[in-house]
Amino acid sequence: MLILEIMLSLLFFLAFGPWCVYSEERLLVEMTLVPNATVNGAVCLDGSLPAYHLHRGFGAGVNNWILQFEGGGWCNDIPSCLERAKTRRGSTRYMNKLEVFSGILSNNASLNPDFYNWNRVKLRYCDGASFSGDSKFDNGTSLLYFRGYKIWEAIIHDLLPKGLATACKALLSGCSAGALATFLHCDNFTKMLPSNASVKCLSDAGFFLDERDISLNYTMRSFYLDLIALQGIEKNLNQNCMRSTNNSKLCFFPQYALKYITTPYFILNSAYDVFQSTFPQQFHHSLIPPSADLHGHWNRCKLNPAMCNANQINVLQGLRHDMLVALNSFYKNSISGGMFINSCFAHCQSESQDTWFAVDSPRIHNKTIAEAVGDWYFSRRITKEIDCPYPCDTTCHNLIPSAQV
Ligand SMILES: *[C@@H]1O[C@H](CO)[C@@H](O)[C@H](O)[C@H]1NC(C)=O
Ligand SMILES: *[C@@H]1O[C@H](CO)[C@@H](O)[C@H](O)[C@H]1NC(C)=O
Ligand SMILES: *[C@@H]1O[C@H](CO)[C@@H](O)[C@H](O)[C@H]1NC(C)=O
Ligand SMILES: *[C@@H]1O[C@H](CO)[C@@H](O)[C@H](O)[C@H]1NC(C)=O
Ligand SMILES: *[C@@H]1O[C@H](CO)[C@@H](O)[C@H](O)[C@H]1NC(C)=O
Ligand SMILES: *[C@@H]1O[C@H](CO)[C@@H](O)[C@H](O)[C@H]1NC(C)=O
Ligand SMILES: *[C@@H]1O[C@H](CO)[C@@H](O)[C@H](O)[C@H]1NC(C)=O
Ligand SMILES: *[C@@H]1O[C@H](CO)[C@@H](O)[C@H](O)[C@H]1NC(C)=O
Repeated sequence: MLILEIMLSLLFFLAFGPWCVYSEERLLVEMTLVPNATVNGAVCLDGSLPAYHLHRGFGAGVNNWILQFEGGGWCNDIPSCLERAKTRRGSTRYMNKLEVFSGILSNNASLNPDFYNWNRVKLRYCDGASFSGDSKFDNGTSLLYFRGYKIWEAIIHDLLPKGLATACKALLSGCSAGALATFLHCDNFTKMLPSNASVKCLSDAGFFLDERDISLNYTMRSFYLDLIALQGIEKNLNQNCMRSTNNSKLCFFPQYALKYITTPYFILNSAYDVFQSTFPQQFHHSLIPPSADLHGHWNRCKLNPAMCNANQINVLQGLRHDMLVALNSFYKNSISGGMFINSCFAHCQSESQDTWFAVDSPRIHNKTIAEAVGDWYFSRRITKEIDCPYPCDTTCHNLIPSAQV
């Protein structure tokens, strides 16, 4: 698997090497390591330096900043973290040094109408806990750093003198596990920027529900509780949320923390998020974990929603229903909030050009995701879009379940 990834990155490098950093379709941006990070112990799982990719803004966007957390699942026990530390998910040593900036990170006005000329940063994910852990494992033979929170701080402190400290407008964004980081760090991002800056946050496919799986177990909850304990996350959760509940660790779930976030927030998510619903077998903490489907009744449905039987469709509609219930108060009461909850089988829709802004992109009420987010960010109109339930949306044709988490 690892060898395959190395081979793919090599091919990628040969095809799009540094000699064509500005091709028409693909913008490739170099990695920047954060050398000062070691001073505060802000290192990846394996002890390597954390990193980001920065592409400078220009023209009217030169003082505006978008920071995008990379996603990539989590590791919630020692064996899985040791495994991850040997891959690009746990070490900058194994990461591609050039990253494609597309969709919300594109520098082309016709592909990214509202943010193309901003300073755009991708924060690489190498801690396995949504940039929120702060502990260490060391038993003499094995060593793992759980320093996601420190990595987040180290990157911000590196960017402040590069212009972030005088930002006029800023957007903290992220996909999947990175979108969860957006929920966790949104208000602190605001605190670290000038008080007169306009700061907002966006999560893309990060609204992971505290949901029972089809065998009625709280699979996701137990997965997260292990993660919180292993990586020392509790002290970095939203304090106001924790004070007002008996089960403070649940504040890791966006649905409980959301009402305590004071920064204007946009929630982009599929109501049938393929990570939570039909995601392939290797993910054991979704709505349909393999342990709950020993006979593989869901296999066909997982690969293609058109193959689901009526009962399976009901289960998927239940996920959408519960997501809308969890978002109801935000929908009704958040004046500064925005949302785009569509019914495509997707996971992460802002980073890929196909789903962000293209002729055949997904739409709700004829608005693309890029238009919806831009309208909300610049207060051009109130943007709270909820799609009709599957299978009514005819703009989803270009989406297939992706392996990106
Ligand atoms: C921007 O994107 C459009 C549409 O894909 C393309 O025609 C144009 O060449 C791109 N511009 C640059 C500078 O790459
Ligand atoms: C340290 O932890 C690793 C991983 O759990 C284990 O394989 C190893 O045996 C442990 N070493 C000691 C000395 O306990
Ligand atoms: C790194 O730390 C040193 C000493 O604290 C400081 O002088 C330098 O500006 C820092 N560099 C960056 C890029 O933050
Ligand atoms: C914020 O205040 C500083 C200092 O007064 C000023 O230079 C800057 O232009 C202001 N920024 C915005 C977005 O108003
Ligand atoms: C969030 O930011 C505030 C102000 O900068 C800081 O005091 C606090 O420690 C931060 N929260 C966490 C969990 O570090
Ligand atoms: C916390 O638990 C106590 C006792 O079980 C209960 O009375 C109270 O309502 C609970 N509070 C919340 C916020 O759930
Ligand atoms: C549900 O959870 C219980 C208790 O953790 C466990 O024993 C059981 O195997 C789980 N069922 C499935 C189908 O995973
Ligand atoms: C949908 O929006 C496009 C522009 O993005 C426009 O050309 C088209 O006429 C609109 N369709 C409807 C039905 O409003």
